[in-house]
Amino acid sequence: MSTIYQATTSAPVNIACIKYWGKRDTTLILPTNSSLSVTLSQNDLSSTTSSSTSPSFPTTLLWLNNLPPEQIDLPSLSSSTSPSAVADTRLTRCLLQLKKLRKELVEDKDPSAPKMSEWNLHIASYNNFPTAAGLASSASGFAALTASVAALYGLNTFSSEQEQGQGNDPLVSASQLSLIARLGSGSACRSLFGGFVSWSAGSLPSGTDSLATQIAPASHWPTLHALICIVNAQKKATSSTSGMQRTVQTSALLQHRITDVVPRRMEGIIDAIKDRDFDAFGRITMDDSNQFHAVALDTSPPIFYMNDVSRSIILLIEELNRVSLLTSRHLVAAYTFDAGPNAVIYAEEKHIPTIVNLVLRYFPLEPGTFEDKLGVLGG
Ligand code: PMV
Repeated sequence: MSTIYQATTSAPVNIACIKYWGKRDTTLILPTNSSLSVTLSQNDLSSTTSSSTSPSFPTTLLWLNNLPPEQIDLPSLSSSTSPSAVADTRLTRCLLQLKKLRKELVEDKDPSAPKMSEWNLHIASYNNFPTAAGLASSASGFAALTASVAALYGLNTFSSEQEQGQGNDPLVSASQLSLIARLGSGSACRSLFGGFVSWSAGSLPSGTDSLATQIAPASHWPTLHALICIVNAQKKATSSTSGMQRTVQTSALLQHRITDVVPRRMEGIIDAIKDRDFDAFGRITMDDSNQFHAVALDTSPPIFYMNDVSRSIILLIEELNRVSLLTSRHLVAAYTFDAGPNAVIYAEEKHIPTIVNLVLRYFPLEPGTFEDKLGVLGG
């Protein structure tokens, strides 16, 4: 009987404050601008992936959220199958890169090491949140998959909960692994780290400088919380892949965003995080969410990711902040919306009960417009 090797790893969802939107290379998933996100805690929204390998597995199989398995055609590195004979997908690109690293860094150096790079894989992944909740699961999913196969292959020993540089001397750093997770889904590269994470756009055509790094661990700002408001749990009508492609081809505003806006905001938000300055962090986060949705609207045909409820949440938070600036000179909350109508509200822990009460008070909407009700807040 042959041995079965196995590893299990989890990766949380991350929510961008500076949005990635646009690819300059659609195969390598190289972005048109740098981005920055906050990774949620492992216990909240995360994907967990178990990978196993054995010389006895006849095929490579993938189980997603306990659905029946899908067979993945993946050539082993030494097989005579030409790569063009099998499907070239985001998943196969990730797995082939991991196999290459296993061969180069482990098997070629130690002839007694199991030849895992030649064996098939069994991969089972599930999300601890409803996949139909309208929350991006590709980031946590591809990060968990990359980390799990890397652990199976003996390439890494860290998890995204750990601080950068900790663990038992991984052969491959989390930033190097982020290059592989990026091939699955751009934003996945950021979920390999906990805390505050930047993804540098890079400039090399090979993409080797388009990687994620941790700006600060979650413990740096433990009082910062994210409140997720599910406005609509449906799958979005325009996927991020096709939406980005259309924006890159048609939006004039995107160029301005890439060259004039994002570089300045990246610097500003990194300083804000280092200083735990919620006012700067919140203002940049809200401005960037609004510009991302403006770029979506500037796409032809236009893309509408937010709906009336999303816009009402913006008005509610802006009004809450307006009143708070008058009374305490500080912002209390910052909204951000990804490619969908659901809101993520960042706030200091002490303000979360107020915000939750406020959101529950105004949603679901009673008859009458939301703008009418804002008077109550200001008064
Ligand atoms: O990685 P993707 O293809 O799911 O794109 C993510 C795009 C946004 O969520 C809108 C922004 C971001 O930086 O996460």
